[in-house]
Amino acid sequence: MQNIKLNDGTVIPQVGLGVFRARDGEQTEQSVLWALEAGYRHIDTAKAYRNEASVGSAIRKSGIPREEIFITTKVWNEDVRQGTTRRACLESLRKLGTDYIDLYLIHWPAEGYELAWKDMERLREEGHVRSIGVSNFHMHHIDTMMIKGKVLPSVDQIEAHPYFTNQKLIDDLKERGIAVEVWSPLAGGNHAAELLAEPALLEIGAKYGKTAAQVVLRWHLQRDTIVIPKSVHQDRIIENFDLFDFELRDEEMQQISGLNRNTRVGADPETFDF
Ligand SMILES: NC(=O)c1ccc[n+]([C@@H]2O[C@H](COP(=O)([O-])OP(=O)(O)OC[C@H]3O[C@@H](n4cnc5c(N)ncnc54)[C@H](OP(=O)(O)O)[C@@H]3O)[C@@H](O)[C@H]2O)c1
Repeated sequence: MQNIKLNDGTVIPQVGLGVFRARDGEQTEQSVLWALEAGYRHIDTAKAYRNEASVGSAIRKSGIPREEIFITTKVWNEDVRQGTTRRACLESLRKLGTDYIDLYLIHWPAEGYELAWKDMERLREEGHVRSIGVSNFHMHHIDTMMIKGKVLPSVDQIEAHPYFTNQKLIDDLKERGIAVEVWSPLAGGNHAAELLAEPALLEIGAKYGKTAAQVVLRWHLQRDTIVIPKSVHQDRIIENFDLFDFELRDEEMQQISGLNRNTRVGADPETFDF
């Protein structure tokens, strides 16, 4: 397993389990337990996913010490708009049943995010969260936030996959020293099946004895991004973590990037309406 060092000195495992659309209760708990058993030490949840309590209970059931697991959660847009980021964080801590969050993110650049960032900085100073970051922010959102902000975000969690490589934003973030986490790394629930049937990915996978999903996830790792694939199936959870015994060649990396269509599967940070 590989780790990435963030700009505040903390370390994040490069592969994590995403739990968006994993049902609260048995389904989320079981997925997290399978992931921890497979070797994952990083779980990505959010207030909006409504499954933080199940993530927390799975971690406790696993018997793995809390400090060995990296937990990310996110403040939702209504809290950003209402100025209740601090309250939301304390509520997430209670639901997760932990006394600190490894990485706390502003989920979307909803109106009021500059003020929310001040709350995030304070939560970090107080030790409730170890690292703070953003999600779905473009460079101009970060620039606006940093007019009054003191702490540069450690992470920006953004959409990226072979159909939407998002290369310019990834390059710009890296240049600023902000680590890039990618969501929907397999193109998300509605498009993963189409992506994973791409002949180019199947051909490359056949050379290494790997699946198309493993080829795509390996492509992300070699772009130095952090990935958080979601699955609620044990075989896929294991498969999505078995990425460290092969390496894609430059021409294969380019071939995969060549699938880019510049089309998103999720909302555009400039026009989202939720
Ligand atoms: N910050 C944000 O705004 C934001 C937005 C979206 C997502 N996220 C985060 O990113 C995580 C991942 O994104 P995502 O859930 O949208 O999409 P994703 O990880 O790209 O794809 C998940 C889909 O692919 C399927 N899948 C997973 N592994 C597979 C495999 N090895 N072979 C075939 N199919 C496979 C899953 O089905 P099964 O579950 O049925 O196996 C599910 O339908 C989320 O869970 C969440 O933590 C963040």
